[in-house]
Amino acid sequence: MAELSAQPIAKYRSDYQAPSYSIETVALEFDLEPNSTRVTAKSTLLRKAAQACDLVLDGEKLELISLKVNQNVHSAYQVTESQLVISELPERFELEIVTHINPAENKAFEGLYQSGDAFCTQCEAEGFRRITYYLDRPDVLATYTTKIIADKAQYPYLLSNGNKVGQGDLANGKHWVTWQDPFPKPSYLFALVAGDFDLLSDSFVTQSGRKIALELFVDKGNLDRTEHAMASLKASMEWDEQRFNLEYDLDIYMIVAVDFFNMGAMENKGLNVFNSKYVLANKQSATDNDFLGIEAVIGHEYFHNWTGNRITCRDWFQLSLKEGLTVFRDQEFSSDLGSRAVNRIKNVRLLRSHQFAEDGGPMAHPIRPDKVIEMNNFYTLTVYEKGAEVIRMLHTLLGEKAFQAGMQTYVDRHDGQAVTCDDFVNAMQDASAKDLSLFKRWYSQSGTPILNVDSSYDASNKQYSLTISQHTPATAEQTEKLPLHIPVSIELLASNGNALPLQIKGQAVSEVLELVEDQQTWVFDGISDIPTLVMLQEFSAPVKLDLSYSTEQLLLIINHASNTFARWDGMQKLVTAWMVQAVAALQQGKSLLLDEAIVATFRQLLEDPSIDKGLLAELLTISSENEIADSFTHVDIDAIASARDFFIKGLAEALAEQFCQLEQRCAMHDQRTLAHSDIALRSLRAACLQYVAYTKPELVSAAYFDSALMTNKLAAMSAANNAAIAQRSAMFKDYEQQWQHDGLVMDKWFALEASYGEGNSLERVKALTEHPSFSMENPNRVRSLIGSFANNTRHFHAKDGSGYQYLTDILCILNTQNPQVASRLITPLIQTVKLDEKRKSMIIKQLERLAALEDLSKDLFEKVTNGLQQLQA
Ligand code: TRP
Ligand code: ZN
Repeated sequence: MAELSAQPIAKYRSDYQAPSYSIETVALEFDLEPNSTRVTAKSTLLRKAAQACDLVLDGEKLELISLKVNQNVHSAYQVTESQLVISELPERFELEIVTHINPAENKAFEGLYQSGDAFCTQCEAEGFRRITYYLDRPDVLATYTTKIIADKAQYPYLLSNGNKVGQGDLANGKHWVTWQDPFPKPSYLFALVAGDFDLLSDSFVTQSGRKIALELFVDKGNLDRTEHAMASLKASMEWDEQRFNLEYDLDIYMIVAVDFFNMGAMENKGLNVFNSKYVLANKQSATDNDFLGIEAVIGHEYFHNWTGNRITCRDWFQLSLKEGLTVFRDQEFSSDLGSRAVNRIKNVRLLRSHQFAEDGGPMAHPIRPDKVIEMNNFYTLTVYEKGAEVIRMLHTLLGEKAFQAGMQTYVDRHDGQAVTCDDFVNAMQDASAKDLSLFKRWYSQSGTPILNVDSSYDASNKQYSLTISQHTPATAEQTEKLPLHIPVSIELLASNGNALPLQIKGQAVSEVLELVEDQQTWVFDGISDIPTLVMLQEFSAPVKLDLSYSTEQLLLIINHASNTFARWDGMQKLVTAWMVQAVAALQQGKSLLLDEAIVATFRQLLEDPSIDKGLLAELLTISSENEIADSFTHVDIDAIASARDFFIKGLAEALAEQFCQLEQRCAMHDQRTLAHSDIALRSLRAACLQYVAYTKPELVSAAYFDSALMTNKLAAMSAANNAAIAQRSAMFKDYEQQWQHDGLVMDKWFALEASYGEGNSLERVKALTEHPSFSMENPNRVRSLIGSFANNTRHFHAKDGSGYQYLTDILCILNTQNPQVASRLITPLIQTVKLDEKRKSMIIKQLERLAALEDLSKDLFEKVTNGLQQLQA
């Protein structure tokens, strides 16, 4: 009889204890076979604890074959589901463990598994324990030697971390390769890949003159989609030298693209493994956004070599130490190479539409969590994106020069170590002499702060008094909130749109105000005109504003703010204010009206030849339903969707001429290069097509059929989808015909099919799970089809609960097969506390169904439990 698995146990940050043993070297040997791979691990260990003690190794889904201590068979041990406990050990010894594992059966894609015909690994966060028994924690750093043995014909390439130090042929058609990584690393950075690939080789000469071999491995036949990834890698290496003075350390850098991967990519030392989505692209198969995504992710993984690998995390609660910092670095990379304003806008959209929702949901946590059941659940928008905002605030408070001095101190102090978030902030503090003691609270407090603003103008004294107060609403896991150190970047605009100089008591002051108390007042003097306050230039802090503007003030900001982000944000406020009153009107059964001031604002933008095209595209792109929902305490799914549709359709009709003309002008100038000005032009065309679809659908069809670029094709398909035009089906059929043999390209099609609001979306999605290009085993396919359906709000939240039931059916399947993917997919079902009671009770029913599963994974257990708790409170 199967043993009932015990209730999952939470781990707490405060319980950290240094390891009792260190591991100095590891020699791994893999004899690769799909169903039974033999792993021999020889390690040298040293006891660190003062007293003799057991060695407790992590291990899951392993078959233990033999165990030796100092070459002798050792029998003082015990094996459980998740541990190997070894007793009667000397202080220093060599441990040899042989295990068997089954990569072919591993559909969770953690540890050693098969992607297509190749073997590959994913060890972060706790996957190495599925390869061998080990101290699988980031503060145990060892140097690795890895010997790989496999069939030579099937697996001509055998790869691991570091430098190749030996290779040879064996009898029975096998061969072997040995790799040595000179840099001590934690187990989560280990990687192995074996297979047959096409290889793109290149090189990079570092600032100190070392020549680095660059190798990019892809599935056979994909070489024509590798150029951009390689160019991005070289750009990353150069940028990190120039902006951060950080140079690559090994002599070789390898990237392997695989089709089966749970996340975006993984920064394994010297051997990155990538989801093929973030490598493969050419103009026919990928959009400009795909190209930009590849550049960002290639950069991100490369930048981890210093922020993550050379300096790593002491424990997984410190994940944001490497992730927040590395996201900040990849954002800066993208902004230095492309449009800073557009990048900032996109990042803020992501934060507002999804990270703020995480803060308000059942899984709320600080960027440095205090309590974790399943670590895979904490690779979140909070740790990554809010974590990057926290680093950005440090950068704003310190300035580039002091920030870089802090980075230098951080690297000098901690190279080769596993450290904490506090260590990072201390380095910044020591290098800048800025007191960051209060700032550290950003690491321990969850939730989105709200700023309140009160101001008055005294014309006779030419004084403007500004009072800002802060409060952070309670989150699911943390009720008590304290004031934070918040950089608030402001501008004061005179009524003619000019910026007013900022001075206090006759002294010029910085535009960055530092809010450190519950409430503070600043009195600016020499203010000659009643000012309009521009708050949070460049989104200087991840907060919400409780501040209402008149339409006139917003127009002044949209037209005149010095900061481009602030202009866009002014427009957001204008549109959001309309949405809020429109939703109220719909709820009262009133009809909607698009006011002339809004139409006039858009008209003026469309007719302004001087405005930046990338910015205009963003200004024309109306917030998603998720973003709009953030402004409500009770979310009325149907009213928000209807208000948004009305707004877009209303603008499309009122400015039909302008949208068509602009779209045609963009089409005429389409240069088909990846230059940022051309990308901007195409994004503007895409934004226009969304409106044009309502009045001149034949232009949408033309945009699809007349262009060879995927960017234009997809823009047309998306516009056709949203406006549900008659031409849609011909376009979608054509696309399916052309790409049905290419799952990666079909993902875009699946995503649009699942988002399509006409007809019965649920039945369409169910049918598409039988499509020959679909596979429930491939995480990209699942996210494209099922994930997109869960964001098709009207159908997912159907009043009969059918959407909830369907997602839950899928989660039941994925729960055993791939818990990590299941756990990411459940988000739209649990971030629902603001919905109506009827929907909430249907959701509770589905969550209870999951909770009752006999073999519920830790991943889903944590989310379902928290979800139920918040919904039932
Ligand atoms: N460290 C990776 C990154 O941020 C994230 C990652 C890749 C990951 N694969 C994973 C995290 C699997 C958890 C599980 O680039
Ligand atoms: Zn990362």
